[in-house]
Amino acid sequence: MLLSRDAQGQPVAIRREDYTAPAWWIDTVDLTFDLEPAKTRVLNKMQVRRNPEVPAEPLRLHGDELNLARVLVNGQGASFRMEGSELVLDGLPDAFALEIFTTCCPAKNTKLMGLFVSQDTFFTQCEAEGFRRITYFLDRPDVMASYSVLLRADKAQYPVLLSNGNLVEEGDLPEGRHFTRWVDPFKKPSYLFALVAGKLVSRSQRIKARNGREHLLQVYVRAGDLDKTEHAMRSLVNSIVWDELRFGLPLDLDRFMIVATSDFNMGAMENKGLNIFNTKYVLASQATATDADFANIESVVGHEYFHNWTGDRVTCRDWFQLSLKEGLTVFRDQEFSMDLCAEPSARAVKRIEDVRVLRSAQFPEDAGPMAHPVRPDSYIEISNFYTVTIYEKGAEVVRMMQTLVGRAGFTRGMQLYFDRHDGQAVTCDDFAQAIADANPDSELARLLPQFKRWYSQAGTPRLAATGQWDAQAGRYTLQLTQSCPPTPGQEHKQPFVIPVNIGLVAADGRALALQLEGEPAPQGESRTLVLSQASEQFVFTGLSAEPVPSILRGFSAPVILEFDFSDAQLLTLLAHDGDPFNRWEAAQRLGLRAALAAIRDPQHAAGTPVLSAQFLDAMREVLRHPQLDAAFKELVLTLPTEGYIAEQLDVVDPQRVHAVREAMRLQLATALAADWQWAFEENSDTGAYSPDPASAGRRALAGLALTQLCLAARESGDPVWPGKTLQRFKNAGNMTDRVNALSALVVAGHPLAQQALARFHALFKDEALVIDKWFALQAGAPDRGGDVLPLVRQLMKHPDFSIKNPNRARSVIFSYCSANPGAFHRPDAAGYVWWSERVIELDAINPQVAARLARAMDRWSKLAEPYRTAAREAIARVAAKPELSKDTLEVVTRALA
Ligand code: ARG
Ligand code: ZN
Repeated sequence: MLLSRDAQGQPVAIRREDYTAPAWWIDTVDLTFDLEPAKTRVLNKMQVRRNPEVPAEPLRLHGDELNLARVLVNGQGASFRMEGSELVLDGLPDAFALEIFTTCCPAKNTKLMGLFVSQDTFFTQCEAEGFRRITYFLDRPDVMASYSVLLRADKAQYPVLLSNGNLVEEGDLPEGRHFTRWVDPFKKPSYLFALVAGKLVSRSQRIKARNGREHLLQVYVRAGDLDKTEHAMRSLVNSIVWDELRFGLPLDLDRFMIVATSDFNMGAMENKGLNIFNTKYVLASQATATDADFANIESVVGHEYFHNWTGDRVTCRDWFQLSLKEGLTVFRDQEFSMDLCAEPSARAVKRIEDVRVLRSAQFPEDAGPMAHPVRPDSYIEISNFYTVTIYEKGAEVVRMMQTLVGRAGFTRGMQLYFDRHDGQAVTCDDFAQAIADANPDSELARLLPQFKRWYSQAGTPRLAATGQWDAQAGRYTLQLTQSCPPTPGQEHKQPFVIPVNIGLVAADGRALALQLEGEPAPQGESRTLVLSQASEQFVFTGLSAEPVPSILRGFSAPVILEFDFSDAQLLTLLAHDGDPFNRWEAAQRLGLRAALAAIRDPQHAAGTPVLSAQFLDAMREVLRHPQLDAAFKELVLTLPTEGYIAEQLDVVDPQRVHAVREAMRLQLATALAADWQWAFEENSDTGAYSPDPASAGRRALAGLALTQLCLAARESGDPVWPGKTLQRFKNAGNMTDRVNALSALVVAGHPLAQQALARFHALFKDEALVIDKWFALQAGAPDRGGDVLPLVRQLMKHPDFSIKNPNRARSVIFSYCSANPGAFHRPDAAGYVWWSERVIELDAINPQVAARLARAMDRWSKLAEPYRTAAREAIARVAAKPELSKDTLEVVTRALA
């Protein structure tokens, strides 16, 4: 085991190639907790045995911020030494009982890792390395043990005492205390340990699985929140049904619990049988949660539930394999949400939304200083690697495997994976091997070693395509060429295996039959080409006119497609492509093209139109289209984000990007004013509330229309739409309509916004998650003359603000620094200075959250002057701060490298 700091106290990188199996195994763990906020006592009795397969070594147990009282080996006081934070024992027998007694202080645990207190309730977060903050242990995922847990606490203050597995005993103790004992029937790594103790209430439901087995499902929340748990429970039931149906994976526990806490660093955690969630991903009612919240709850409940197999039953050998469980489980939750859609068009909408996240967050990561492979080679702090690359790009890698072996083949591969590895801690190689072995005749099996470059090479590949039309022969030759830019530590890349889904569209919009040279007959209208060389040609025959290629349908690979489409070709795809993803993509390309042209043109002056009449007509056509879904229209009519536009530029002037995009938005608002009005009226009444995709899509389109109408009204000085919007805000029957109306006023900077904001706060002052929205809306508002930073300073002084609560910190600080580029990138650098102060302030409280905030500056080196120099100085100021956590230090050091 490596010490995580060197002799100078500098953090040391952990390297994947240094992995060795543990020198000791811990077979059983018997934990006794006496829970007190100021001093919790933990007695940890373990059965330990030497691993005969590796050279003998002392036993080195991890610990962090623990007070050690006693160590017994086979019941006798044992000699031990401390090496840094590790407890080291020498001269041990081959197998023995080890007993360790420690105390810790959950009340002062602001890092929210290990055992902490939130609103008088105890919670744990052990992934990745939090268990060592509870007791000394081999806190690594390949050490799997059977757990028995005794919880003791004051009965009045902590009536509910939960841990993993089954409740086997409970009773009263002297002095008003009580206890519960839990036994987890499954072996698990320490990161899946959990306990909860406090005043909680639960919604319970009993279900009977297809095999007849009965299960108790529970969602635990604080007393006032029970009426907001129905959707989470429904999502859990749907998840259980889906995993059985799609993958044949049943619930393996008698009891499955979800508990919500308002203080949580991440979204949620898949502790065996006792998932702990951020309240944001549990609580929902139509009055307090938006459609997006409902959808997120469904996918996060699904995600954590699916981890029960992909993560808990089969876990990671080491943390470099994190995507083994996270990429796979994101893929599974994406498929789950898609399969719940009644309409195929709603599936496509979900796919577009997922790709949008990938391209707006993961592509920049892959192009920046924190770029890392899906299976990283080294890290200083593993918490920094819970990234969009591990999660979302990891999911794309799994999706490509499914594309290469087919849906049924992928299910076979999953079955083989569990047949081989149930109960084990394994690697990404083991997963890919199982999928390939179950499909021996597939392209995946044929190309497996090369395919696995997706795990080892960082960076977003570029896929350059060119088309050549031979009218005489009726042949269309598509040349596909791949490359991948250098990333930190990886100068040169080898070619990837890229599945390219493709179709050909006639100029009049017809889908053409696809026949490759040498094939006796056409094979459908959409197919997968597999590019494995640096460059390959694909020749389509039997064509009567030049086709428009629809390349990378459904975003079949996480690459940047470069093709020199003419405007006319893109308009054809936008009007006719049978693949909804590429239809949407055509509009994005047209919008992006217009934005980049205006940004790059030194002559382009503020106030001059950016969008062509042709583009506006096409947008109008989509908006008015009688067959297209509202949700799809909303996606097409939403311009690429400032962040996505910025990524296409070598040098970024964020104010110019902001100004051009705002101009485009305004042009779209005014040119289509009558159409927006029509769209609003068509979609403004969705009847009795239901968060289903179809009605959510109509609300989304009505919301966008309202924003556009208020923007146009600001230009013209027309009071009608702002007035109507305020009315809609007041009368809204659900949070989506209410927050959309409020946002429309805030975005337009209309004076009525102030009144609406005040009313919103008064209405929801007791709803923490809604107050988060209230903060986020203001911190994310468009900047007018530099007014957002002063407002954000004010918001931090608001009585409802607390920097210790991660959701609240995110709602103000991250909304400003990471989600409001036009306000954050100030020519006077005040935004950057403020950022550096907040990173330093947060770092002393919660390093994980601080390190996330530090990432807001990832792309500093692309900035134009004066931003670039000022940004670098701000990062250097953070890096120079003594005693920075290794979380934040790793991020800023990489940024400056
Ligand atoms: N495994 C959790 C999930 O479902 C995330 C836990 C992350 N925890 C952390 N400390 N970084 O995605
Ligand atoms: Zn996960």
